[in-house]
Amino acid sequence: MDTTETLDDASPYLEGNFAPLRTEYTEFDLEVTGQVPADLEGRLLRNGPNPVGDVDMSDHHWFLGDGMVHGIRLAGGAAQWYRNRYVGSTVVGETLNRTFPGEVSGGTGPNTNVIGHAGRTYAIVEAGTKPVELTYELETVRTNGFEDSLLNGYTAHPKYDPLTGEMHAMAYSYGELFDKVHYVVVGSDGVVSKTVPFSLPSMPMIHDMGLTQKFAVILDLPVAVDLDLALGGSSFPVRWFNEFDARVGLMPRTVATGEEADASIIWCSIDPCYAFHPLNSYDTEDGNVIVDICVYPRLFDADRNGPFRDSLPKLERWTVNPQTNSVRRDVIDERFQEFPRVAGSALNVPYRFGYTTSVGNDQASWNFGETIKHDLVAGTSEVHDHGKTREAGEPVFVSRPNATSEDDGWILTMVYDAADDKSDLVILDAANLTSDPVAIVHLPTRVPNGFHGNWVRDLVTPPPA
Ligand SMILES: [Fe+2]
Repeated sequence: MDTTETLDDASPYLEGNFAPLRTEYTEFDLEVTGQVPADLEGRLLRNGPNPVGDVDMSDHHWFLGDGMVHGIRLAGGAAQWYRNRYVGSTVVGETLNRTFPGEVSGGTGPNTNVIGHAGRTYAIVEAGTKPVELTYELETVRTNGFEDSLLNGYTAHPKYDPLTGEMHAMAYSYGELFDKVHYVVVGSDGVVSKTVPFSLPSMPMIHDMGLTQKFAVILDLPVAVDLDLALGGSSFPVRWFNEFDARVGLMPRTVATGEEADASIIWCSIDPCYAFHPLNSYDTEDGNVIVDICVYPRLFDADRNGPFRDSLPKLERWTVNPQTNSVRRDVIDERFQEFPRVAGSALNVPYRFGYTTSVGNDQASWNFGETIKHDLVAGTSEVHDHGKTREAGEPVFVSRPNATSEDDGWILTMVYDAADDKSDLVILDAANLTSDPVAIVHLPTRVPNGFHGNWVRDLVTPPPA
């Protein structure tokens, strides 16, 4: 164990808009200020932790607890419905005396992200739990690892390849695999097409990854499983380790199914830090890999209940050089920010625009804030201030059909208003970020601070006939 004093006050990650909801709402024909674009036909989905039972305030980690998926269906220029539903699990089943059509996994359900792929909707999370399939209307179907083709757990952050329709993931499940991680590819048909095991002896928390045309980018950073904490029954046995090296691995995407990949990985050293989320990654003409990423100097050291009281994240550009096995770090923006997203058309290739959410301005507390648009070519940024009492979540970018530029589309983000303790779905014109919102969809409830989601077009995952 290290000697760092951990914070001894109660977890702040259950107060204010961190507190869970106790009601599942269904509301039709939502009130809208402005006009929902008629081109938006699908669902904006978002997942987050929403513990169903009583929780121990002193030990509660924000990343734990049952998942709750929120969804808004947009079609015909209107907001047709809002629903929020617990993600099915044995805990939800037992606590709410609820049954599901198929078998659900033990423990809590996936609480971190929600995606549409190959006609299905999945709630997903890292570290050993398989995806849970949801209906179009967000009811739990069953635990379903991609038509049952997934060997172990999955991730909250598959990286989509728009050229192949594949999803690439780093899936770790240290309880089952110990020091092994699986590089997993799910094909456009919705079935696992490749599983490549490789070794990571320090058992790091691998929340996300990078993907380029050539490489799968592995983040081996010094936040890792502490076996003493795990054996002692800690609900979140992960912490900062001063003694571990930090490194970025480049694994060729061509590595074959079942092949032991360890020898193929090009490891590049980096100063100790932690990052959950790359904004985007791509190969350069001179053989380097660019990873734009939100970076914390330190994480899960003093604050073992959540990510925001050790340090706050800034957007950096990492230039990963496989010739020198090193990584150059350049800060893109000194402001604290998280939840980076790009246009689907910009994924894994050289690009211009990125979107983030600002997070609190002092180290003692934090809140979500403004929506930031970066022009990474011009080196400039624009900010959409949602209002004094209003806090934006992850900015989900949706391209306009037949878009004429990378930023020709909308940003969809959940905005919590502390003044009336409710949330809105706010739709911004990404090309005119500082303008008034195109539409504000008023929800019947607040949406607790949570994690990730996506715009799932009806074309990808259609409504029931
Ligand atoms: Fe995440």
